[in-house]
Amino acid sequence: MRVLASAPAKIILFGEHSVVYGKPAIAAAINLRTYVWAEFNEKGAIKIEAKDIRVPGLTVSFSEDEIYFESDYGKAAEVLSYVRQAIELVREEADRRDRGITVSITSQIPVGAGLGSSAAVAVATIGAVSKLLGLELTREEIGKLGHRVELLVQGASSGIDPTVSAIGGFIHYEKGKFEHLPFMELPIVVGYTGSSGSTKELVAMVRKTKEEIPEIIEPILLSMGKVVEKAREILLSDLDEEVRFERLGKLMNINHGLLDALGVSTKKLSELVYAARTAGALGAKITGAGGGGCMYALAPGRQREVATAITIAGGTPMITEISREGLRIEEVIP
Ligand code: PMV
Repeated sequence: MRVLASAPAKIILFGEHSVVYGKPAIAAAINLRTYVWAEFNEKGAIKIEAKDIRVPGLTVSFSEDEIYFESDYGKAAEVLSYVRQAIELVREEADRRDRGITVSITSQIPVGAGLGSSAAVAVATIGAVSKLLGLELTREEIGKLGHRVELLVQGASSGIDPTVSAIGGFIHYEKGKFEHLPFMELPIVVGYTGSSGSTKELVAMVRKTKEEIPEIIEPILLSMGKVVEKAREILLSDLDEEVRFERLGKLMNINHGLLDALGVSTKKLSELVYAARTAGALGAKITGAGGGGCMYALAPGRQREVATAITIAGGTPMITEISREGLRIEEVIP
């Protein structure tokens, strides 16, 4: 039997960093996917083939205590620890630790760009392997397992990435609980700086500043939480599309300013943000942890112009849509 599953990338629309301190955040799945094929092997080992995780070909095999890298490209290797944990966790859940499983991964999601590539690969792997082992899991349960994978690999995580990747659409997330917000088309452009920040280091840096000057940082985090609540209100309202976009854009700009105040922006990120606004975006902000990675802009009727402005400012634009669907079982070959 062979199973193919896929899971989407995400952008955090509002509330990164403040979500770490129990404030709400809003994220959406986007139309870039990671695909994972899973099948049994007779060796009892976990074998991972990652042919295209946006880095050149790489094949890695695990068995017992040995790990074989046929070639090693830093960041791809990092992604593989999520895959391995995901397989091990599902084998435990199914009580089939002895079962040899081979997974083969291809992905459209750039690694280390803050678009949730690790969560997407974990969620797609859990989806494919659980189906292969005959476990009936809901998307919500798969999101929770994805969160456990993140905790095992990176030590800390709010869980927003695997949740939105498993569920799809728009998610309002607060203290481990999520609410699915109504679906709508959002004319966005994502801009990739070409470099990546370390989520772990950036979260630690914000924590340190908060400990040093809580009287300044806490009100900023509080404001960020309020921005998210206002954005939720607007997303749930029946306002005219034009007004809705205008108000969301304003909140994006405020959220970016607050993130900049926390110290997580970079010259390049801010250049892309200002280039997008100058080209007619209603709002633009960092998405994800910052320190590199991506920004996104809301640009109704101006997506092409904004994409060009991002290119001229030295970034890589991606005109993408919100993905209604989260985890998808694409094919089951008996
Ligand atoms: O760069 P990303 O997408 O992993 O963003 C992380 C978002 C943070 O709020 C900074 C951390 C978290 O665990 O929520």
